[in-house]
Amino acid sequence: MNITVIGTGYVGLVTGACFAKLGHTVTCVDIDEEKVRKINDGITPIFEEGLEEILATNKERIKATTDHRSAVMDSDVTFICVGTPSRKDGSIDLSSIKETTIQIAKILKEMKRWHLVVVKSTVLPGTTQNTVLPLLEQHSGKHVGSDLGLAMNPEFLKEGVAIPDFLNPDRIVIGSADEKSTATLKELYNSLTCPILVTSLSAAEMIKYASNTFLATKISFINEIGNLCKHLKIDTYQVAEGMGLDRRIGRPFLDSGIGWGGSCFPKDVDALLAWAHEIKEDAHITESTRDVNNDQPLRLIHILKKHLPKLKGKTIGILGLAFKPNTDDIRESRTIPIVQALLKEGAHVKAYDPQAMPSFKKLFPQLTYCATAQEVLSSDAILITTLWKEFMMLDYRGRTVIDGRRLEHAKNAQTYEGVCW
Ligand SMILES: NC(=O)c1ccc[n+]([C@@H]2O[C@H](COP(=O)([O-])OP(=O)(O)OC[C@H]3O[C@@H](n4cnc5c(N)ncnc54)[C@H](O)[C@@H]3O)[C@@H](O)[C@H]2O)c1
Repeated sequence: MNITVIGTGYVGLVTGACFAKLGHTVTCVDIDEEKVRKINDGITPIFEEGLEEILATNKERIKATTDHRSAVMDSDVTFICVGTPSRKDGSIDLSSIKETTIQIAKILKEMKRWHLVVVKSTVLPGTTQNTVLPLLEQHSGKHVGSDLGLAMNPEFLKEGVAIPDFLNPDRIVIGSADEKSTATLKELYNSLTCPILVTSLSAAEMIKYASNTFLATKISFINEIGNLCKHLKIDTYQVAEGMGLDRRIGRPFLDSGIGWGGSCFPKDVDALLAWAHEIKEDAHITESTRDVNNDQPLRLIHILKKHLPKLKGKTIGILGLAFKPNTDDIRESRTIPIVQALLKEGAHVKAYDPQAMPSFKKLFPQLTYCATAQEVLSSDAILITTLWKEFMMLDYRGRTVIDGRRLEHAKNAQTYEGVCW
């Protein structure tokens, strides 16, 4: 099939590259000329393992452009993968979704054949039906269901392992209002072997929010348990193992630490809360999930001050800036509030991350960025904030280490304390 993917961020580019790998012909569209140029040169604008190789080996089936019209006109299906960030009040900002929908609709007005539009961006329940559908019909002059197809196909990939996640998903959810749209999406994914769940448009949207909020809640829950465990020196990771062996619970997402970040959980939790507020429904559990996560990184500072009561003038080393390992994404990284607190206390911050230093530098130009992780070790104390594999190779003997991510290798430090252990 010929596919257009609009928005070449983490989701759009991975979607486009993987569909090309599966044998489809893909045109990626972005308003960012630099991204488009890089993709056409075979360079990925984001760090995601395996992505550059897919671009290189499927060159003849994937290209990028800033021209929405030529891309959509030549394709059978258009995926909307633009960002849905938070507004200042936490509510979802749909401006890119609306703008893209109108752009597509105006192109579809001239198209003589049926075309399927798929919303892959994360949008609140009701958005595809009540915002995308009317805009598509209004600006194309066509009828969704007969002239056009419309589906909502949420993406569940995890940054860092996005390619294997896309190619071996646990499930594919197709929210659709008509059989032709469902059949077209099923055909597109037919080489993947996993359950396919067909739902209403709004149920597909809700599955995505409920999944992300549940996972964020699972982490906040184990962090709360970890904070309790610490008082009695109970090994919270043993507790997680014991809980995780129960198949109803499962071990993943039970690693206590300094909390969750990234481009999805924080904004999706905020959007769900803002929506609940708007429709006057209580969302107590989700609210607590967010509260625990806001407090958790600052516990690392509290522990650090037990060992170094006056941070003013001290050099604090930070190992890890990305919100999790194997990505360069720093959006809502738990390191951000930690660095803010250290700077407020008058500490000097030395930092290292294998991938995320260029973007962190834009936020905090005043830090000292080290060329190697080893250089960070010559600090008055070291905070471990992202669990990169290379931090396991360091020799922490003689150092003071406050660990936010449970790095076993750091336990031989002269002084060692963990956030929940
Ligand atoms: N990042 C993830 O791990 C992840 C996982 C699942 C779902 N999602 C969801 O997928 C969506 C995209 O997320 P992302 O992280 O890829 O976003 P992103 O911000 O990395 O990328 C969005 C891209 O869209 C482009 N864009 C904006 N308006 C455009 C327009 N009118 N035409 C063409 N391009 C346009 C931007 O330039 C940018 O390159 C969001 O709704 C997000 O919640 C993200």
